[in-house]
Amino acid sequence: MQKMSGCSCKMHLFIPLILGVTLCPVRHAVDFDSIPRRTVPVHDLLDYKQFTHTVYNYTTFWLEEELGVLYVGARGAIFALNMSDISDSSIKVIQWEAVPAKRSDCLDKRGHTEMDCFNYIRFLKRFNGTHLYTCGTYAFHPHCAYIEIENFTLSSTFEGKEKCPYDPTIGYTGLIVDNKIYTATLYGFHGGLADIKRNFQQRSFRMDDSLPYSLNDANFVDSVLVTESVNSTLGDDDKIYFFFTEKLGEETAYNGKPLITRVARVCKSDEGGMRTLQRKWTSFLKTRVVCSIPEYGFYFNILKSIYVLDQGSWQSTIFYGVFISQWQNVQMSAVCQYTIADVRKTFEGPFKEDQESPHRWSRYTDKVPEPRPGSCITDEFRRRGFKTSHDLPDIVLDFVKKHPLMHEEVTPVGGRPVFIKKNVNYTKIVVDTITALDDKQYNVMFIGTVEGWLHKVVNTGSSVHIIEEIQIYKEPQPVESLVLSSTQGMLYIGSQSAVIQLSVASCRKYATCFDCILARDPYCGWDGEVCREIRMEKDRSQLIQDLVNGSRGCLDSGADVPLEAKSRRVQKGSDIVLQCRLSSNIAIARWKINKAELLGNGGKCYRQEDGSLVVKDVQIQDGGEYRCFAEEDGVRYAVAWYNISVTESMAASPLSPPQPQISKGREFIYLIIIAVLAAFAFVLSILSIYLFCSPSKRGNYNMRLPRSSLVELQNISGSCVGKAEEGEPGHYHGDRFLKIIPGEAASNHRTPTVELLPPPPPPPPLPLPPDLSSSSSSSDPATTITAATTPNGLPGLPHVLRKMNGNSYVLLRQASEMESTSPHYHSFTEELSKMLEKRKHAQLVEKPDESSV
Ligand SMILES: *[C@@H]1O[C@H](CO)[C@@H](O)[C@H](O)[C@H]1NC(C)=O
Ligand SMILES: *[C@@H]1O[C@H](CO)[C@@H](O)[C@H](O)[C@H]1NC(C)=O
Ligand SMILES: *[C@@H]1O[C@H](CO)[C@@H](O)[C@H](O)[C@H]1NC(C)=O
Repeated sequence: MQKMSGCSCKMHLFIPLILGVTLCPVRHAVDFDSIPRRTVPVHDLLDYKQFTHTVYNYTTFWLEEELGVLYVGARGAIFALNMSDISDSSIKVIQWEAVPAKRSDCLDKRGHTEMDCFNYIRFLKRFNGTHLYTCGTYAFHPHCAYIEIENFTLSSTFEGKEKCPYDPTIGYTGLIVDNKIYTATLYGFHGGLADIKRNFQQRSFRMDDSLPYSLNDANFVDSVLVTESVNSTLGDDDKIYFFFTEKLGEETAYNGKPLITRVARVCKSDEGGMRTLQRKWTSFLKTRVVCSIPEYGFYFNILKSIYVLDQGSWQSTIFYGVFISQWQNVQMSAVCQYTIADVRKTFEGPFKEDQESPHRWSRYTDKVPEPRPGSCITDEFRRRGFKTSHDLPDIVLDFVKKHPLMHEEVTPVGGRPVFIKKNVNYTKIVVDTITALDDKQYNVMFIGTVEGWLHKVVNTGSSVHIIEEIQIYKEPQPVESLVLSSTQGMLYIGSQSAVIQLSVASCRKYATCFDCILARDPYCGWDGEVCREIRMEKDRSQLIQDLVNGSRGCLDSGADVPLEAKSRRVQKGSDIVLQCRLSSNIAIARWKINKAELLGNGGKCYRQEDGSLVVKDVQIQDGGEYRCFAEEDGVRYAVAWYNISVTESMAASPLSPPQPQISKGREFIYLIIIAVLAAFAFVLSILSIYLFCSPSKRGNYNMRLPRSSLVELQNISGSCVGKAEEGEPGHYHGDRFLKIIPGEAASNHRTPTVELLPPPPPPPPLPLPPDLSSSSSSSDPATTITAATTPNGLPGLPHVLRKMNGNSYVLLRQASEMESTSPHYHSFTEELSKMLEKRKHAQLVEKPDESSV
């Protein structure tokens, strides 16, 4: 795929020469669209455990690592799962459905659907040593209750309106600190006002709503306690931070009211004012959180998820935020990182002021009253006689009422996102820290998508590398909750249909040394025989890992065991496809024919697609040894080896050579496959005869494929001066076949042959610049097709195909310009998926050894 991007850029370079305009954007160090090295479909996942019950919407998680329990709030039920194995049958359930009276009341009210009127569990957290606290929407009549942990029973008294939203879809966050319940959402039947509340023993504490600008249609995402009182030289207070998006009502003049991301904070010991701000926050301040690359016009304004990485002390707290953009017409997500120090600094900086002019809010430059408004009570305050917020003078409280907004913004570490991914909508993030073999700490991000995939991403310092994309759910659905147990090395993923448990590591999936090392997975190391999870190992000295280059370590491991050759006989005149199954999306396949590198070959027309080699119109002299190598990060390893012998006639090459050891059942399956493929090939042959016989199209093998497409075939020889052009149209024989020769099955792990590259490897593919022209330059219908987006960020290719990388099949078709623009023209991609679909229906056995027609 990288080679394609290089290709497309060359194409672009031609045009400016003619037009005098630069269409090929300048490439930058920013990685806009790094490609996940591996694509792991759900059925290939190891250590995959699933929990599902008769209900839906498994969205509220509470993990108790010490008890070994994962609590899950769903629709009308709460579960206590064994966190070592969530599929373990010893689950406990609390059924908590809204009573019929409340349900019908909910349905009677305007605009509520059947779906709204359940009890969606939205809050589930530890309350004290013996109880949890939970809240549900209860058919638009919010209810909260205690859960006794020992017996897992729900208390019989309910409360709720002050702590839980009515609407199951509305933004909501909450936490419990010192038995006080902090919640932030829109309270009220019809949405109502956004508020941050604190409830303690029936007493409610809230925001001041006498002035309209504290919150503006806020959609709350997360809340965090940062224990800033610990080892504070100032005698500072703990603070609770709230992350949300809201409408920008007060700053610059945009068209409409764009959303922006904010962080707000309150002090834990805030008790409100005496006369002014009675039982209301005196410490509420908010500011803007930025995640953007202005020079590219990328503004990620909508926050989806926050993960707090607390590395031992509050001073080292890092917030990871996942953002999407309201404006980009191409789907794009970004991850930005913020330090607690940067967040604190903005709250200590200048205030903004409402000047009631067109550019209303600007920096406040007058004198700020003393003691500093919005500050927590510190030693300095206490010395001056302000022991609690009750003691604060009215002038300070009036000021904070009118100036809740800080002038400075919170900017991300490094001034820009950690990384950006095109064509994907991220939903949730967690971050794990692992000490790798080089004794350095690496942060590994696990990020869920709206399509039900998980990206595992490592920041190696010099670059950000997507180790893999993992399909979590077969049916696409958003990842709605994501919880990490660092101690167990487990991830818990929640969605509408099920809870999934996955190991953060599962190194066994890397079968060879090269796979293990090139993965650059900080959890895994090669011990000479297998890929192991490093933290399970007492003696790490024998393990190899190379996170920075991903290429060192396997060369002297004596892995020089040759691949087993596959011998195949094919008939003269056939077209054959030799598979080369690459497990990595970033590897490039290189073919050698009879030891000669396939670069250009005496007029013979070869093509490569996703690593597979297509040889057209095979002649006797084309027989011999075909070897495929994967090339990645400067190393080469053997992947497939075929010995092809070409025979003159059908009789000399039986369809399948007699294999006495084949069982009856197998034989039968083969027969079916052969029959199906024969029928298919027959249709193809008819088609090709038709096309070949049509004079205008004779010998035209230029596949009219979308230029930037991943599946663009490469014409290795540059021009196709093959036999196809020799014979006369009428003389074309109808015995042309499409022959598909499957490569090694993925399970067929062999230690690959190793070969050091003599010349330095080609430079790694440069990241794709933002495809600024993708929406405008789609005059070519084929391009439009490729611009379509897919869950895993590949243009125009269904993810099934991507996973089959190197094992996909090539349809040899001849198409003219006319065809490609006609309404009946199907894109190559479509054809390919159809073909794969057909093969699937033909019950492709696990390892079809050879399929010929
Ligand atoms: C709950 O799950 C159902 C079924 O998958 C889905 O249609 C609905 O949108 C979900 N509701 C919420 C509030 O997530
Ligand atoms: C959870 O499962 C593990 C192993 O599957 C088992 O050893 C443990 O006892 C279980 N815990 C509970 C609380 O059932
Ligand atoms: C925890 O809170 C519940 C509900 O208020 C109460 O009944 C229980 O006694 C408390 N437990 C402890 C250990 O304080």
